Amino acid sequence: MDITIVPLPTEKMKTKIADQSQLGFGKYFTDRMLVVEWKATQGWCDARIEPYAPFVLDPACLVFHYAQEIFEGLKAYKWADGRIALFRPEMNARRFNQSGDRICLPPVPEELFLKGIEQLVSLERDWIPTASGTSLYIRPTLIAVEPVLGVKPSDHYYFYVILSPVGAYYAAGFNPVSILVEDHYVRAVPGGTGEAKTGGNYASSLKAGLEAKKKGYDQVLWLDGRERRYIEEVGAMNMFFVYGTHIVTAPLTGSILSGVTRDSVLKLAPTLGYTVEERQIDVHGLMDDIRSSKVTEAFGSGTAAVITPVGKLCYKDEVLQMTGGKVGEITQRLYDTLTGIQTGKLKDEFGWVRFVG
Ligand code: COI
Repeated sequence: MDITIVPLPTEKMKTKIADQSQLGFGKYFTDRMLVVEWKATQGWCDARIEPYAPFVLDPACLVFHYAQEIFEGLKAYKWADGRIALFRPEMNARRFNQSGDRICLPPVPEELFLKGIEQLVSLERDWIPTASGTSLYIRPTLIAVEPVLGVKPSDHYYFYVILSPVGAYYAAGFNPVSILVEDHYVRAVPGGTGEAKTGGNYASSLKAGLEAKKKGYDQVLWLDGRERRYIEEVGAMNMFFVYGTHIVTAPLTGSILSGVTRDSVLKLAPTLGYTVEERQIDVHGLMDDIRSSKVTEAFGSGTAAVITPVGKLCYKDEVLQMTGGKVGEITQRLYDTLTGIQTGKLKDEFGWVRFVG
């Protein structure tokens, strides 16, 4: 499908943030966005890259009432030689449609997803920050825009992609975060939407997140919805626990997100001499293992969070520190290797990078 490029008037061009250390996460947006529509009568149509602007939407649109929407997150990096690299975007394209299938959204052809992002990023290349720890965050989104109040799949959708130059997801940068194991609220149950990247999962996590913040924690770690016993994920990250040189993470049981960074860690770690295991992690056993220092490090993984060290875990009022509250050696090595591949400082032995033409 051809994508129409709508001219960007000079007066609509924004001023870029000069000090890249002040970017934060998801606060600034570039000049253009990709929009493609899906209509029941036509399928995918009207693909365009147009000036970034608010949508005018009917208040009755299905997305506002029944949350029929999904999103993705991936990043573009500008290498020292000027090339622009996307990291494993095909995985995001696939996961986008898996999420969409769960809530009856029409699949976005992989070619449209990838080519649309490439064209948009290429046009917006001057927005890609280059300071260490920064990147251009890409947010593909699909929303139901039919204005009707009956509960049903929409007959009209917008697939759109916006871009945001970003720094670290957590304000503290690459420093250990503290996490509260949530034993009251649950994020997902078997057969629910936990595996889908759909906004409702994030809305339902807000209350627990706020309560954790009040107690001084950065995030909550969800337990399984049935027994409230097995480690699932932190809303913005999958979790890993390090036992010496053995790295353990929860399996993909259908209620946690199948993270692209999670998958990358599982593939990367063995090449650095570590063993990896996907197994159910009982929170009681985990607390014992932290207490007895069998767990030597913990970290989270995610596109936004990259690899984030975890220094403190609280479960039922017991607070345990890991790695002396410092960044663990293996966590650091995985972070350096992963970001090295993403930014072109290290060779990509896995074929993960896709260059934007
Ligand atoms: C990402 O890592 O890209 C995410 O979508 C997490 C997000 C909720 C910030």
